[in-house]
Amino acid sequence: MSDPHAFRNALGQFATGVTVVTTVDKERNPVGVTASSFNSVSLDPPLILWSLAKTAQSMPAYQNSGGFNVHVLASHQSSLSNQFAKSGDDKFDGVEWTPCENGFPILPEYAALFRCKTHFQYEGGDHIIFVGEVIDHRTYDFPVLVFQGGRYADAKIKPAPTQSTAPAIDMQNGQFTDDFLLYLISRAHFQSSYPTRKACNKLGMSEPEYFCLSLLAMSGGLPANDIVSRLEHTGHHPDAEIFARLQRKGWIEGTDDNIEISQKGRETFIGLLAHSKALEEQLLKHFTDEELIGAQAFLQKLIKITGSDIPELW
Ligand SMILES: Cc1cc2nc3c(=O)[nH]c(=O)nc-3n(C[C@H](O)[C@H](O)[C@H](O)COP(=O)(O)O)c2cc1C
Repeated sequence: MSDPHAFRNALGQFATGVTVVTTVDKERNPVGVTASSFNSVSLDPPLILWSLAKTAQSMPAYQNSGGFNVHVLASHQSSLSNQFAKSGDDKFDGVEWTPCENGFPILPEYAALFRCKTHFQYEGGDHIIFVGEVIDHRTYDFPVLVFQGGRYADAKIKPAPTQSTAPAIDMQNGQFTDDFLLYLISRAHFQSSYPTRKACNKLGMSEPEYFCLSLLAMSGGLPANDIVSRLEHTGHHPDAEIFARLQRKGWIEGTDDNIEISQKGRETFIGLLAHSKALEEQLLKHFTDEELIGAQAFLQKLIKITGSDIPELW
């Protein structure tokens, strides 16, 4: 092996759980080590394995005790993992363990416990591989601790593929179900923007007027033609009548060659933005950070691939 560091890095790419394996030494004192080398071997007979470095101080205890308890750690137990990863006699300090019938320590919390009889011990280079026959096991429904690339992580469960067997769109009858993503996107848009549209109504501002103002607030002065073409994707086609109305209300100024948002128009628009922002804050309270990051990435990508800069898609 030319580069042990690179070998270690490559091995670290294999994400594992984290266990604390406990047993007793010849004086029946509790012994424990953190081990990520745990794995299943056989269902019938029920066998598991893990491996321990030959240099570990606790090696004689595991070789002679006749058994061990494997605790699969929960995601909140990374400090316990660190405690059992340091050589020394004080690993059980502050840990309220209880002995099983063989005297091997059982930790107070774990995601799963496998109580094992030592079945085989194999030489494995600089480690000894312990194969245990499982005599008893218990599971608690905790999220588990993960170890990858030398760091702790939480397992993120991927959503199960949608169970619905019905097609998202019934092409013959023109009906669709809640699996139809574009329907969900437009429904989410209409429902979530409804309060803002009501606020516009109260101000006597129509939807095309709102779109004109928001475009002008963001882009500065524009010729009327440009405004029309840049709002094409919204389905609104502001005409001379709409520009005249906006001018009468004092929200825009200038001529057809260069229409600008007025001070009054900007203040009105900022009032609406503040309203939308407050609405957003309320809505976002219902989502986790992870949901929001995923939704943002999804929507940004959707906007990019449906943008006018890639017209060949359409
Ligand atoms: C996440 C993690 C996983 C570990 N996995 C193993 C392992 O599978 N085998 C091993 O020999 N050491 C492993 N170690 C290191 C041991 O826990 C550490 O060397 C051991 O606790 C030393 O104890 P001792 O010398 O008192 O026996 C791991 C350490 C950490 C932090």
